[in-house]
Amino acid sequence: MPESAQSATPASPVTFPPAFLWGAATSAYQIEGAVREDGRTPSIWDTFSHTPGKTAGGEHGDVAVDHYHRYRDDVALMAELGLNSYRFSVSWPRVQPTGRGPAVQRGLDFYRRLVDELLSAGIKPAVTLYHWDLPQELEDAGGWPERETAHRFAEYAQIVGEALGDRVEHWMTLNEPWCAAFLGYASGVHAPGRTDPAASLRAAHHLNLAHGLGAAALRSVMPARNSVAISLNSSAVRPLSQDAADLAAARKIDDLANGVFHGPLLHGAYPESLFAATEPLTDWGYVLDGDLALINQPLDALGLNYYTPALVSAADPDAAGPRADGHGTSDHSPWPAADDVAFHQTPGDRTEMGWTIDPTGLHELIMRYTREAPGLPLYVTENGAAYDDKPDPDGRVHDPERIAYLHGHLSAVRRALSDGADVRGYYLWSLLDNFEWAYGYGKRFGAVYVDYATLARTPKSSAHWYSRAARTGTLPEPEDS
Ligand code: FCB
Repeated sequence: MPESAQSATPASPVTFPPAFLWGAATSAYQIEGAVREDGRTPSIWDTFSHTPGKTAGGEHGDVAVDHYHRYRDDVALMAELGLNSYRFSVSWPRVQPTGRGPAVQRGLDFYRRLVDELLSAGIKPAVTLYHWDLPQELEDAGGWPERETAHRFAEYAQIVGEALGDRVEHWMTLNEPWCAAFLGYASGVHAPGRTDPAASLRAAHHLNLAHGLGAAALRSVMPARNSVAISLNSSAVRPLSQDAADLAAARKIDDLANGVFHGPLLHGAYPESLFAATEPLTDWGYVLDGDLALINQPLDALGLNYYTPALVSAADPDAAGPRADGHGTSDHSPWPAADDVAFHQTPGDRTEMGWTIDPTGLHELIMRYTREAPGLPLYVTENGAAYDDKPDPDGRVHDPERIAYLHGHLSAVRRALSDGADVRGYYLWSLLDNFEWAYGYGKRFGAVYVDYATLARTPKSSAHWYSRAARTGTLPEPEDS
């Protein structure tokens, strides 16, 4: 039966291709703990989370969920759940303390052991090199607004590529450079907590450059069969109305959310409209000859992290004041040169983050990648929801809302496959409840519940549901679980 006919039959199960990767994702600072072990030095997140007032309740990742010591159990849990891939990040200050100089073997050994454990459990590792934990020394030297940081990243990429490239096929240079640049350097809700919009645009370019230099460094030391990608949190930007002013606002945010990365990565140029919009802040003189070619080198795949769409309009000039941007609250906008734009809550149910549940945004972005990057394999490298999960008296954790969320979003992925997109895998965010950045431990994204007093892990009902999906390659009805 042709795909389209199959998906049109209501009773037929929603099936995925046999080689589809069913994964879960995490990041180093959010789960590892062990921040002072085996030679690791502080990252910007250690400094930021230990600065009063920066995270909810002053929480930090010193212990997190102690994955550094419990990784064997965590891999065993993934195997029990039938996952066939795991996306994790490498902590830069663990393998190259201070961001310069030789590798620390004890730090690399942790990732060697983790990869071996995964491979022997039949789980494909997918490595992200940078999930926001810049060595503090590199921030002290200027951080991402400085070009040198991109060169430092390339050296680090080479170190990790040399250590793991023979056994890890799937690589991502950066996770969500938008957050690193704009939450880190414009709104300041993420480390390093700077509020300098001009610096955030420099940071964005140097993150792009770091991707290009890092990808080249990886390829210089790894087997050619490996796949080098990047994970973007591209945004499904929607105008509040079809009025010219609202369409212009949506266009501006599309440039600042998507064009600033899609442009150089996929098309070899920043959008002219981005230059025009940011002209009061920067002349982009730090984009040097040759940078765009480096950034635009062919990718092997593209990763999309998706949570919720954005709804924007032209701003009401009287409505200034502190604002929540979805990742924290700040008096400073994460959108440089966009004071004339207002953000609105999209209609519909929301998760515990306040993020509206809308799987159509995921379908829309996958189809956009399919158009903008024809022929490139795609992965949903993060998608998931926070809920206020609590164990029942019998110790079980029921999270039907998360099951509905996953069902809705995986159905959107399936629709995109039917519409011709080449999606090869899906990584649920997150394997475990963990340190949710500025929100501390208050927001639980895990398919596996973590009791923060004992660090005991309990798979939630969504983990069992996802396990059935992974094992059968079809989506169980949400009420079946
Ligand atoms: C993404 C991050 C990830 C997690 C989820 C909820 O932006 O990549 O670390 O915080 O959001």
